[in-house]
Amino acid sequence: MRHLLNPLDFSVEETGQLLDLAKDIEENLPKYSHVCDGKKLATLFYEPSTRTRLSFEAAMLNLGGSVLGFSSADSSSAAKGESVADTIRVLSCYADICAMRHPKEGAPLVAANHSSIPVINAGDGGHQHPTQTLTDLLSIRSLKGRLNDLTIGLCGDLKFGRTVHSLINALVRYENIKFILISPPELRVPEYIREDVLKANNIEFMEMDSLDEAMPSLDILYMTRVQKERFFNEEDYIRLKDCYILDKKKMKLAKQDMYVLHPLPRVNEISVEIDEDPRAAYFKQAKYGVYVRMALIMTLLEVK
Ligand code: NCD
Repeated sequence: MRHLLNPLDFSVEETGQLLDLAKDIEENLPKYSHVCDGKKLATLFYEPSTRTRLSFEAAMLNLGGSVLGFSSADSSSAAKGESVADTIRVLSCYADICAMRHPKEGAPLVAANHSSIPVINAGDGGHQHPTQTLTDLLSIRSLKGRLNDLTIGLCGDLKFGRTVHSLINALVRYENIKFILISPPELRVPEYIREDVLKANNIEFMEMDSLDEAMPSLDILYMTRVQKERFFNEEDYIRLKDCYILDKKKMKLAKQDMYVLHPLPRVNEISVEIDEDPRAAYFKQAKYGVYVRMALIMTLLEVK
């Protein structure tokens, strides 16, 4: 039995196979409508979510399976003090696979250690978000036709943004990837990403605070929301929340074949005036999330 807790749990080859399956699902959706008949997915969400939870549910329903779960800690026995270990032991009796989002880093790992069904990390605190990464990889591969030879700009809250941490972890395994890390000094990537992931893999990267300066060299711009819920004080959040706003003026500085991604939800960091720009790919990206999660459920349940 396998879990997905970290994007590195799948090798580059396995990731490629999963993305190929997701692509086939996109092109031949009806072919997959019964492959999970009789199977159940549990969604255990201790933190808010729209896309991740609902795309997991849509994925399982598209495969012919059913879904059960909760969407806030308050509506589960966590509110009474039940441990993640006990909850997953019980859920293992009710479902065949589960997706868990939790505010504490490592909670899905604890669950996996006590589970008899595959556990998927759907986001743990400011740590990792591997299924968003699979979505991002499928988006980049579909838009650019490749996952190598790319200059990727990551912009916004690189400190608390778990999607950024997972995406960097996954992308360093491809050839000739360069990163431009655009953030205010307070929101730079954590030390372990800089030292143990980027430097340890000899990856070319630059840290800067000017988005304008970075724009012309990017193949992909990955915008992120300032993660309000992870700040210790509101003053800092208010000071930093609008540090970047991508607008038409900034888009003029970019290449014609540069694409903008965002895991969503967006707050102010992308002006709605660029939604109609053909390079704005974030809603398409959200759609890819369903195909990739269908492929992931099939892979972990070993159904064909
Ligand atoms: C992200 C998350 O939850 O980390 N959202 C998502 O899953 N698509 C990004 C965010 O909340 O800013």
